[in-house]
Amino acid sequence: MSQEVDIVIFGGMGDLSLRKLLPALYRCELEHRFSESSRVFLTYQGEAGAPALRAQVQNGLRNYLLSGEWQAEIWTRFCARLNYVGLDIGDLQVGWNDFAARLRQHRACVRLFYLAIPPNLFGVACKHLADKQLITAQSRVVVEKPLGYDGDSARAINAEIGEFFPESGIYRIDHYLGKETVQNLLALRFSNSLFEHLWDSKTIEHVQITIAETVGVEARAGFYDRAGALRDMVQNHLLQLLCLVAMEPPHKLDAENIRDEKLKVLKALRPIEGEQVTRFTVRGQYVAGEDSSGARLPSYVEELGQGSTTETFVAIRAHIDNWRWAGVPFYLRTGKRLQQRFAEIVVQFKPVSHAVYDSPLADSLEPNRLNIRLQPDEGIRLTLMTNKFNAEREGLKPVALNLNFAETFNYKAGDAYKRLLIDAIDGNPSLFIHRREVDRAWQWADPIVDAWARGYSPLHIYRAASWGPHAADDLVAADGNRWFQAGDSDRHGGDRHAPVL
Ligand code: BG6
Repeated sequence: MSQEVDIVIFGGMGDLSLRKLLPALYRCELEHRFSESSRVFLTYQGEAGAPALRAQVQNGLRNYLLSGEWQAEIWTRFCARLNYVGLDIGDLQVGWNDFAARLRQHRACVRLFYLAIPPNLFGVACKHLADKQLITAQSRVVVEKPLGYDGDSARAINAEIGEFFPESGIYRIDHYLGKETVQNLLALRFSNSLFEHLWDSKTIEHVQITIAETVGVEARAGFYDRAGALRDMVQNHLLQLLCLVAMEPPHKLDAENIRDEKLKVLKALRPIEGEQVTRFTVRGQYVAGEDSSGARLPSYVEELGQGSTTETFVAIRAHIDNWRWAGVPFYLRTGKRLQQRFAEIVVQFKPVSHAVYDSPLADSLEPNRLNIRLQPDEGIRLTLMTNKFNAEREGLKPVALNLNFAETFNYKAGDAYKRLLIDAIDGNPSLFIHRREVDRAWQWADPIVDAWARGYSPLHIYRAASWGPHAADDLVAADGNRWFQAGDSDRHGGDRHAPVL
């Protein structure tokens, strides 16, 4: 990021900006990544003056930065880059002239327009940028997921933005792709010959992808109730992770090749429609529960303040219809207010093909498993069977080869937004979503939502701070499987006392 950049955040004083974008940019400052004259513009609506806005940004940073990251001297430097721009996105007469004049002070630099605003304003924001001739050859626009509400609305939004920016200038963000372990998933798959021949239906029994959250919907209830977990998490984050697990090795690790391979996976996803939705999907909504300290957690309906049938939990059995993955279930699961926050990909290998041990030894045999932990502690764990050492009786035991990134590389979990913002500034779209991927993902998700609306799958309730509805357990149990929960990967195949190599 050596070049000069002007970053414009539309919705600069909103939740996304204060929570994620400004901390990410502050970290860029901390790491001295900005060139001297780079600037950050925060657009806002209303009467507040610069001192009040500055105080709001400062409060936000102090809330959302990790301990130790706040430094008065860095804040002073960062603060000097911040420009507050009062404008009405929808009205060219309000604030745009002044904004345009300030932006034109730097003509030659990269311009990054971040649309941290509702999608219904994307089109008009882009049009007004074009009207003011602010879109240069060096300009990029960044948009957030979920892009649209369904396939049709996503296509309309993409078409609107596409009128003003070429596809190569549109950066559709999915912050899961900026997470460190997701990068490591690519390294694991494509830099180790070990897995090359094991990564298919001959050796892999099934794959689980879980993103579990302990938070409820709280202040986002209004937005969330219209979206639900399928649109908010599955259509984007979970499908993107699935693509990275399942895609063919790209010819090169560049944007075009990675996106092409991901698209092929999305095209091969078996549609789940009509009656199949009842069999292969589970949707749930949390009711009140208690956290581990006994404190009461409200139900979704209480948080929302009205009745609702929106799902806060989804579990799906998906299949990829191609040679590599024929017959391998991909179980996807996500939910709010679950027992523990964790995100993990579990690759469950098949049992050994012939049992050389007799019972009872044979009974303790467990198939190998690879756990790729995205959060909270990032790492990779491979569970193998070994002979027990120093045991009175001979026996087999699962043990784990454990790679904990924080310990191994002595680093703190990275900031996905920082990574993605830097990539966007540098013009590297590899970790951003192509328009065709968005289309395909909706094409798969839309029939599920339609079938739910037609009553094909009941809305199951689950207690806040549980692991979701029982029906989700039944979904995998029907194939003889079970979900791996947060603590399981620390137990190395079910035995909490097993050693870690
Ligand atoms: C966002 C969703 O994309 O991802 C939120 O809109 C969700 O509902 C969040 O809470 C989870 O992200 P992370 O990185 O905290 O797991």
